[in-house]
Amino acid sequence: MNVTLKNYRTLDFDVINIQEEWNKPTERENRMHCIHAYPAKFPAFITTMAIQKAEQKNIKVDTVADIFCGCGTVAFEAVRSGKNFWGCDINPVATLIAKVKSQVYNDAILEEYFDEIVSSFKTSIADKNNIIYANERVKYWFDEAQIDDLLKLRSAIYRNVKNEYYLRFFLCAFSNILKSCSRWLTKSIKPQIDPDKCPKNVIAAFSAQVKMMRIANSENKMGGLGNADIHCLNFLEAKIENPFVDLVITSPPYVTSYEYADLHQLSTLWLEYAEDFRTLRKGSIGSLYHAMNFTENVERLNNTAGNIVSQMNLIDKRKARSIAQYYIDMQCTIKKVHTMLNVGGACFFVIGNTEYKGIKIDNAKHLTECLLTEGFSEIEVDRRKISNKILTPYRDVNGKFASIKGCSRKVYSEEFVIFAKKI
Ligand SMILES: C[S@@+](CC[C@H](N)C(=O)[O-])C[C@H]1O[C@@H](n2cnc3c(N)ncnc32)[C@H](O)[C@@H]1O
Repeated sequence: MNVTLKNYRTLDFDVINIQEEWNKPTERENRMHCIHAYPAKFPAFITTMAIQKAEQKNIKVDTVADIFCGCGTVAFEAVRSGKNFWGCDINPVATLIAKVKSQVYNDAILEEYFDEIVSSFKTSIADKNNIIYANERVKYWFDEAQIDDLLKLRSAIYRNVKNEYYLRFFLCAFSNILKSCSRWLTKSIKPQIDPDKCPKNVIAAFSAQVKMMRIANSENKMGGLGNADIHCLNFLEAKIENPFVDLVITSPPYVTSYEYADLHQLSTLWLEYAEDFRTLRKGSIGSLYHAMNFTENVERLNNTAGNIVSQMNLIDKRKARSIAQYYIDMQCTIKKVHTMLNVGGACFFVIGNTEYKGIKIDNAKHLTECLLTEGFSEIEVDRRKISNKILTPYRDVNGKFASIKGCSRKVYSEEFVIFAKKI
């Protein structure tokens, strides 16, 4: 569906035809996409399709960017297609995974390092003076025997793997076993203790994880490999003054849905990215804890956002504040995307709408208005079905994740693919 300044206000995005081609992949996802769990991971085939679509439109794609790169789905697929990649994410756990995924490792070296780590683990004893034992959060999630083993394993990794590329591989493996080795309720999208859980044995979980990652790496034949340049930073603060990208492919965070910093807290604690994981909420777009001056924000909102926020402000002031901040952040995002794109380049956004207490939170329309305001052209909006979807959580009035059953809002099962070109 082509969208112009004239028709976007009257257009009901929810009746745009579903485009079958965006629904299902034609081939099985590469195993590298499964090396680490990540909330709201993007379907990999969307990247390859977006690159193909852009090239069909005669856009010469040398460099692809994902400004909210998460666990590196776009990074992996772009590099695999022989493109150079630039990406960023505010969360260090995300960029750790993304960097590992866009790298190919020598399996013989992985095996050698792995054997050294395991033998070092077996012959070492836990240093009980380590500050990790005093960390209340660590004690909350892990019992002492698990802390002993995780500490021994982490020390064995650092002691034996001096090469930074290979170190990342093993830290990524370590990071992905933390939930299963803790009391964290399995597959939960909110941090919650499972009182009945029997945490996995640390070295057995690590061995299985490394085995899986080595198989994925061996299957990963990246012909015509591009380069990946991945940064841990707040995109809103990224210094981008000149264009350097041909195609942006990204899925922005949703407003007050996932608290990425909270969901990655075990990795943040063990990999020492922050003393208190809550500091990583700062700057995170869509976080319930990231809202600045409401009055100033409201003045800067575009038409679509202004309408949504004023309706929300009548029924839920806290929610209105975070939604206003979210929309301001997205407006700045689109401005920066325009700056980073070469003339003739394009962007693809994958985004869903939702509803809260009867108010439609029309993210797709807001994003389209931002694109029109920045002067993008040839805007096309397609709708796709979300398959195999884990329901995206939504926070209730108290900031708690709402349970799906009996909840007052509609969960989106469709989302939009929005294309726009810089002229
Ligand atoms: C929907 S997820 C992207 C998932 C990604 N496409 C993938 O396949 O893993 C949105 C991402 O935006 C990141 N994010 C939130 N605020 C950000 C900011 N200010 N700058 C950069 N990244 C941010 C989150 O950490 C999260 O990883």
